Amino acid sequence: MPVLDALAETGAIGSTVRQIATRMASPEPAVSRLLEGLRKDGRVVRLGRGLYVLKDFEHLDRREDFVAPEEFTERFVREGGVTLGRYNGPITFSPNDTLPVHRWWPYVQGYSAEFVRDLIGSLDLALPARVLDPFCGSGTTPVEARKLGHRAIGTELMPPAALAARVKTRFELDPDALDRAGVGLVRRARRRRAGVPPFLKETPQHFDPTVLADLTRLRDSLPIGDGPVEEALRLAFGAILIPASRLRRSPCLGYGRPESTTSPDVFARFADQVRAMVDDLRALGASRASWGPPASILATDARALELPPGSLDLAVTSPPYVNGMDYVMNYKLDLAWLGYAHGYADLARLRSSMVACDNLPRRETARYLSTRETPDPWLTEILDRIRTNVARKQTYRRNDAHGIVHRYFADLVPVLRHVYRALRPRGRFVLVVGDSLLAGTYIPGDLLLARMGIRAGFRIASVDVARERRSGQRRSFRLRESIISLEKPALAG
Ligand SMILES: C[S@@+](CC[C@H](N)C(=O)[O-])C[C@H]1O[C@@H](n2cnc3c(N)ncnc32)[C@H](O)[C@@H]1O
Repeated sequence: MPVLDALAETGAIGSTVRQIATRMASPEPAVSRLLEGLRKDGRVVRLGRGLYVLKDFEHLDRREDFVAPEEFTERFVREGGVTLGRYNGPITFSPNDTLPVHRWWPYVQGYSAEFVRDLIGSLDLALPARVLDPFCGSGTTPVEARKLGHRAIGTELMPPAALAARVKTRFELDPDALDRAGVGLVRRARRRRAGVPPFLKETPQHFDPTVLADLTRLRDSLPIGDGPVEEALRLAFGAILIPASRLRRSPCLGYGRPESTTSPDVFARFADQVRAMVDDLRALGASRASWGPPASILATDARALELPPGSLDLAVTSPPYVNGMDYVMNYKLDLAWLGYAHGYADLARLRSSMVACDNLPRRETARYLSTRETPDPWLTEILDRIRTNVARKQTYRRNDAHGIVHRYFADLVPVLRHVYRALRPRGRFVLVVGDSLLAGTYIPGDLLLARMGIRAGFRIASVDVARERRSGQRRSFRLRESIISLEKPALAG
């Protein structure tokens, strides 16, 4: 098969050299030379991640078979009467990395503490208001809500993130007790023999051998139990894993940290981490009078949440994104080293229990392959387009890609319903969420969620674009992250 025909068949999704070589049954170097020749002639274009497409597919938004972001936005405005505004404050988690308490665990997928503070400050909430984050991650919402005097509730399925949220909201943890326990732990660990590394096959590649041995000594010296000090030490240990490794999260876990930047002194790293926590707790003590009541962090599935009707004033969250992060893959070191997973089967079970990501086992999408009954008519169109594009390419990584997207949105329906029920009238549900480009198809995840909110009973108070992002598939394609504010009507029961 000629290379242009093979590439034409892959349409908007495009192909790597290897995929085309397989399709043509030709050696990769020869195919690579052909593609590069065609690229120089201007007939083929190379996109990010080594993907080639025919020139015709270079700009998706000029094609008839592509529905561009602007078209969805126009429809959204026309059908719902809500125009997209802008939020100009910081939205990503990165400023939290240096903030007291928020810096206790390196997390990438959260939003900024300032966003939560701005939001709570902009609403006229009586103290203490009841504030929920159903996907609370490492606890940005509950930490800020409690600092501002409110009663915070968080649910989070991934155990290390739930641990972080629990520890970070225990403002009354005694800094002196933590300090003493940290010093004692390091002393015991230094005297201890190296232990057995966790089950992850790549562990020897993750760490320098001395670092690895010292990490096992620290881990085996951690106190047993789930009291506040024990959990704080466990979190401090979790927090040094990636900085001590050859890995980095940017945002996905991968190799890349130059070895020279990883200090081999694991004990010093751990002691610094505990010291930072102790310093933050001491500083936090000064504002004790304004803290809200202790937060409740539940290791519960947000889809199965059953809070009493009318028991919430505000819900704020950022759910996982469509086709986004595989949290289990990204936090597998924390899961394995902290003893939350003892083998790959545990990781797979956890992944299956969470909101759908694109590494979901196939059996989990079996019920979602039909595009008939979906949570929104726009979604039906979008799923059909994904299915067509994937079928055209034949060798797409997942031929059930539309099933994954379908399940993702279906997963969020019960969350919208439960939060609606639990909010008091005029209570807000604020979601930070992104859009996506998948299989040559644009998915306005933010607008879809807003529309699904209406079906759950909410009215849309606002949709504000907070920042632009680049698509991983096509670097030139601009995606966005939006803040959707839904309100339960005043007269709702
Ligand atoms: C975008 S992150 C939230 C980040 C959080 N706002 C912060 O600033 O730390 C989404 C979180 O949802 C969690 N998650 C996924 N499926 C879940 C489910 N069914 N129930 C509860 N949490 C879930 C993931 O583990 C992840 O931590």
